[in-house]
Order: sequence, then structure tokens, then C-alpha cells
Amino acid sequence: MKRTPLIAANWKMNAPPPGWDAEDSPYRNRDGVDIVVFPTFLDVHTCVEHFLVTGGQYGRAEEKGAMTGDVSMQLLANHGCTYVLCGHSERRIHHAEHDGMIAAQVQAAIQTGLHPILCIGETADEREMGQATDVIQKQLSAILQSSINLSSLTIAYEPVWAIGNGQTAQPQDIQEMHTAIRALLSEQGHENVRIIYGGSVKPENASAILSLPDVDGALVGASSLDPSAFRKILDSLPI
Ligand code: 13P
Repeated sequence: MKRTPLIAANWKMNAPPPGWDAEDSPYRNRDGVDIVVFPTFLDVHTCVEHFLVTGGQYGRAEEKGAMTGDVSMQLLANHGCTYVLCGHSERRIHHAEHDGMIAAQVQAAIQTGLHPILCIGETADEREMGQATDVIQKQLSAILQSSINLSSLTIAYEPVWAIGNGQTAQPQDIQEMHTAIRALLSEQGHENVRIIYGGSVKPENASAILSLPDVDGALVGASSLDPSAFRKILDSLPI
């Protein structure tokens, strides 16, 4: 089955990189690949205005209310976002988001017409204890057991120990985890769901990662802040 690759730029708490809005910016969509940027909420509007496919780094499940500092899926959609990250490990760690909250976010995103990218992945300790597959199974279970229509969903496998430190997972480990995730999705009839990899993706390792059979793209952090590195990652996609 052919799934369109997705390469996403997660700019985290950073300003858009230089040249992001140029005519030939690498952050613009191109044929054969979906390219999405995740700016801070402050920059969502300008990215949408400059015709980038844009997502929110987070969205709350409730539509509105007394939730200081938060934005809802509905507000993201109102402002032109088409994607949203759900359950990024930095949200799980710094904002105590748990699987139940994250499943509600995924559900709200889909109901609002946003395409959620659900982030899952184990910590270094969990991997060392041989629990990596159990962890992702648990993180996926609330979503897979729900009655949500998952036709527009992407999973991002992001091992926590490989994020933001240059320490990429080995291709065989990535393939093993993606195969396990693919099997869980297939059991429930969700063969179309893309599984992308995130964690220190850079020009030097992009080709090895993106050519793995069960990898449908990448969620790129630090290297997405450097337009030329991001372009090289895009150019590493197998044709
Ligand atoms: P890095 O590419 O900086 O490791 O970040 C990965 C990530 O968290 C993307 O969401």
C-alpha cells in the first residue's frame, strides 16, 4: 500500500527559521510529499498567511472555556491550522499529559477536521528494561480501542532518549518498533495510518531512516530550524 510521505518541521519554542516565507522555501508543500510546519501559536497566523501547511504544537480537547494559556482544536482550525501534534513527549513530561487526555485530544482534533499526529515512544529506562513495545502498546491502546474514525491520523514514533541530543536510534531499532506499531494498527484495520519517525533526524541519517520499509516520513526538531538541513532531509526521501 502506498502512503504519501510526511515530513514535519517541529519548531518547538523557536521563531521561524530564516527564509521560511521565501518563494522557494523548503517548508512549502511539494508534489509527492506532505510538508507541515509546527510554529509557536504566535506564528501560526503568519505561516498560514504565507500558504504553509501549518499545525498546532498542542490543542486542548474542550472547545472553549476558562483554560488560561491553552488553545482548543477548534481555535486552531479557525486560524487555518490543518494539523496538530498530540502527546509530544515534551508535553507529556512538562505538562503532565497522560494517555487519557491525549486520546481526548486526538478525538477532538479528528472531530474538528484537523489531522492529528500522535506522538509515542519509550524512555531510555523503559528501553533498557525491555519494555519499549509494551510502552507504545499502552500509549496506543486508548486510541485503538475507541470508536474514533482514524482515517486521518499519523503516528510519530519518537523514542524519548533520541530527542534533541543527536543520539539517533539505529535503523534496525526504528524498523523493529515501526513494524510493531504497524502490526497493532493492522489488527484494527488501520493500514492507511502513516508512521513517521522523530528523534535527531538530520541530513546525515535521513536517507537510512527514510528508506526503511515501515517509515512513512519524519518529525524533525532541531534540523528543521536550518532550512538547508531541512531541504537535504526532504531530498533524502526515496523516489
Ligand atoms: P530533534 O529532531 O531535535 O531530536 O526533535 C525531535 C522532536 O521532538 C520532533 O518532534
